[in-house]
Amino acid sequence: MYQVTVEPTGDVVEVEEGQTILDASLRQGVWLPFACGHGTCGTCKVQVLEGDVDIGDASPFALMDMERDEGKVLACCAIPEGDVVIEADIDVDPDFLGYPIEDFEATVVAIEDLSPTIKGVRFELDHPIQFQAGQYINLNLPGVEGARAFSIANKPSENTVLDLHVRRVPEGAGTGYIHEQLQVGEKLSVSGPYGQFFTRKSAPEDLIFIAGGSGLSSPQSMVLDLLEQGDARKITLLQGARNLAELYNRELFEQLAQEYENFTYVPALDNPLPEDNWQGFAGYVHEAAIEHFSGHFAGHKAYLCGPPPMIDAAITALMQGRLFERDIYMERFLTAA
Ligand code: FES
Repeated sequence: MYQVTVEPTGDVVEVEEGQTILDASLRQGVWLPFACGHGTCGTCKVQVLEGDVDIGDASPFALMDMERDEGKVLACCAIPEGDVVIEADIDVDPDFLGYPIEDFEATVVAIEDLSPTIKGVRFELDHPIQFQAGQYINLNLPGVEGARAFSIANKPSENTVLDLHVRRVPEGAGTGYIHEQLQVGEKLSVSGPYGQFFTRKSAPEDLIFIAGGSGLSSPQSMVLDLLEQGDARKITLLQGARNLAELYNRELFEQLAQEYENFTYVPALDNPLPEDNWQGFAGYVHEAAIEHFSGHFAGHKAYLCGPPPMIDAAITALMQGRLFERDIYMERFLTAA
C-alpha cells in the first residue's frame, strides 16, 4: 500500500499494489478530472512532483514524449511504485458532490419493454448507492468484454435500486445480452457512480431538459429529483422520439405535469405513423424547443441528453436563441454497445 498526496488540496489517497492513481482517488472520494478512463484522451494528466510512477498503458498521443520527460502521467493508467506527490488541475464545480465510486452486487428484479427498441431494467443493490441525478454506472455482463456504461434513471433518494433504459444497439454484445439473455434473479457486478452530468442546483435559472431516445434516463432522474425536493423553478422537459411506440414513459411525465405547476412536458415525434393519430408536436425535439420558447432561451440552463445529431441540433438552436455555452450541459449518448 502506497500513499499518493494530491496537491494543491493535500488530500491523501491510499493506493494498493497495481491500482491506478485515478481508481484509488475516485474510490476514496478524491475527485480528479477524467473522461475515457483508459489512457487515450489525456483528460486525467497530472504532474508527478515526488516519487516514482509506472506510466502504464498511456497512449503516445495522450501523453507525449516531452510530457513524459517533464514527469507528467495519466492518472487513469499510472501505478505508483512508492509514495508519491502529484499535482492536479482540480477545478471542481461547487454543485458536484463527488460521491466515492463503489462496487455493488446488483440483482435483476424486473425487465420490461419500454418501447420496441428500449428495455427498462430494475436492479436491487446489495447496499445503498449515493449518486447525483444524471450520473451513470458501469455494468459488467457475463461473457462480454469490458464494462458497459448506463445512466441511472431513478432518483437518488431511491438508493437501493437502479433503473436503466437500455436501447438495443445492432451487433452490440452488451445490449444484445441485456435484450436477449438477461433474466430476473441474475446477479451482476456494478460500479459507480461516474460522470459529470448533474443539475447545477445553485444556479437560479429555470431549467430546460432536452432528451432523445434512451437519453431520457438522466433527465428523468434529474426531473424526479428536482420535483421531489420542491424546487420552485420552472422545469420544462422536451422528449423526442420517432413515433408513438418509441415515446416511452409519457404517462409518467403527463401525470407529473398535472401534479406540479412548475413542470411542463413537451413530447415531439419526428416520424409519427398514421395510426399514431398524433396531435402533439410533429418534428425534431430541438424544433419543439424553438416553438415552445418562441426561439428565446435566455434566463435558462439547458441539459441535453441523446444521440450526437440531436445534441448538435439542440446546441445550435439554444445558442441562436441566446443561451451561451456556459448555460448548456450535455451527455452525448454513452456508447454502450
Ligand atoms: Fe482519458 Fe486518462 S481519462 S487518458
